[in-house]
Amino acid sequence: MNFEFQNPTRIVFGAGNLSRLGELTGEYGRKALLVTGGGSVKRNGIFDRAVESLKAAGISYVECDGIEPNPRIASVARGAEIVERESCDVIVALGGGSVMDASKVISAAALYDGDPWDMIHHGQENVYVPTEALPVITVPTLAATGSESNCGAVITKENDKVKSFIQIPLLYPKTALVDPELTVSVPQDQTAYGVCDLITHVTEAYFNGIDTTPVQDRFAEGVILTAMEWGPKAIADGTDLTARAQVQWAALVALNGWLQAGTDAPYPVHMMEHTLSGHHDVTHAAGLSVINPAWMRFAARSNTAKFVQFAERVFGLKADSPEDLNCALAGIDRFETFLRSIGCPTRFSELGIGDELFETYAKDTLKIVSDGNGNLPGRPSMSVEDMVGIFRSAL
Ligand code: NZQ
Ligand code: ZN
Repeated sequence: MNFEFQNPTRIVFGAGNLSRLGELTGEYGRKALLVTGGGSVKRNGIFDRAVESLKAAGISYVECDGIEPNPRIASVARGAEIVERESCDVIVALGGGSVMDASKVISAAALYDGDPWDMIHHGQENVYVPTEALPVITVPTLAATGSESNCGAVITKENDKVKSFIQIPLLYPKTALVDPELTVSVPQDQTAYGVCDLITHVTEAYFNGIDTTPVQDRFAEGVILTAMEWGPKAIADGTDLTARAQVQWAALVALNGWLQAGTDAPYPVHMMEHTLSGHHDVTHAAGLSVINPAWMRFAARSNTAKFVQFAERVFGLKADSPEDLNCALAGIDRFETFLRSIGCPTRFSELGIGDELFETYAKDTLKIVSDGNGNLPGRPSMSVEDMVGIFRSAL
């Protein structure tokens, strides 16, 4: 292993912390752009409580509402314009991953004269790397992406049917105010998708990383086991604050860089899913739960020992040998059964998607990321035919 790790985001975690929003925002600015989604925070009272806290600390605010799930680059541009027009000096992201991702890109776009799409990897020759950004405070209302304390963001350009990412240290939020109380109103399906998303963040690093990362493996298995134990409790009873807190912490640690450190893992399942979402606007984790088990069955044939380890340690199965493919596949079956048990789809047909564009997804994914041989990085790397085969197996 050979790596550097630094995550500068301050994490303030615990039920009831929303009342500290004003105080925490005031450390970075006096006039906030308050970014929200399609209205959930207004319906459940979170917005009013956030505003009350900002006002009490003497922070004024301007709103940028209406950020879509799978946030659009046009919304980013709209937010950046408001920041410039209103001279905001800090950004507060009050919502799910979509709101947080849009806010991060707004923070850089507001200080950039060009088109914010230049910053998103979409196959262009030169990706613009911003060098300055406004401070961002994240307040997640949904446990899923880990966006609250990482430096990535995923944005969609609707007309081009492209959804892709930016990931640079500049975009680490200053503070993540993580209050599990804010997630009690998340409906069952979104709660389940969050569990699926966080587990997939872990499995990507676990299965695509280099050999011999025993500490990371144990962290990863611990997060997966925790999500599988506490996720169903949060789904069964959304008001179970203990379960909500465990799921939210699991989601945060699943993608704040710590589990990934030293693994050098690419994220091929995410790359393929983003293409799918770009074409069909599907919920991120609904796409993941279809593609991930299918990808696992493909990858288990060449990285068998790691899938055997997963089957044994996560599902308590017993292998005949470290290369026991049947055991590896049985572990994947168990994982898929878990996803189904929490209500996640595992077939394209459940998303209303046929096989017409499978080759297009594969080729479009390679436009965003590919290795020197024109394949999608992963373990193993994948050709267009490999990806189409994976999609077909999940039809
Ligand atoms: O828009 P509102 O009205 O707020 O409703 C949202 C939305 O409909 C609702 N919701 C959020 N908090 C709620 C709530 N409903 C009731 N009560 C609450 N407390 O949930 C719906 C989904 O919200 P969204 O933000 O889209 O979900 P999520 O957090 O799963 O974020 C998904 C986005 O993040 C990207 C995905 O690709 C997708 O665009 N990702 C970002 C990552 C990152 N930055 O690190 C990594 C991930 O792998 C992922 O790609
Ligand atoms: Zn994800």
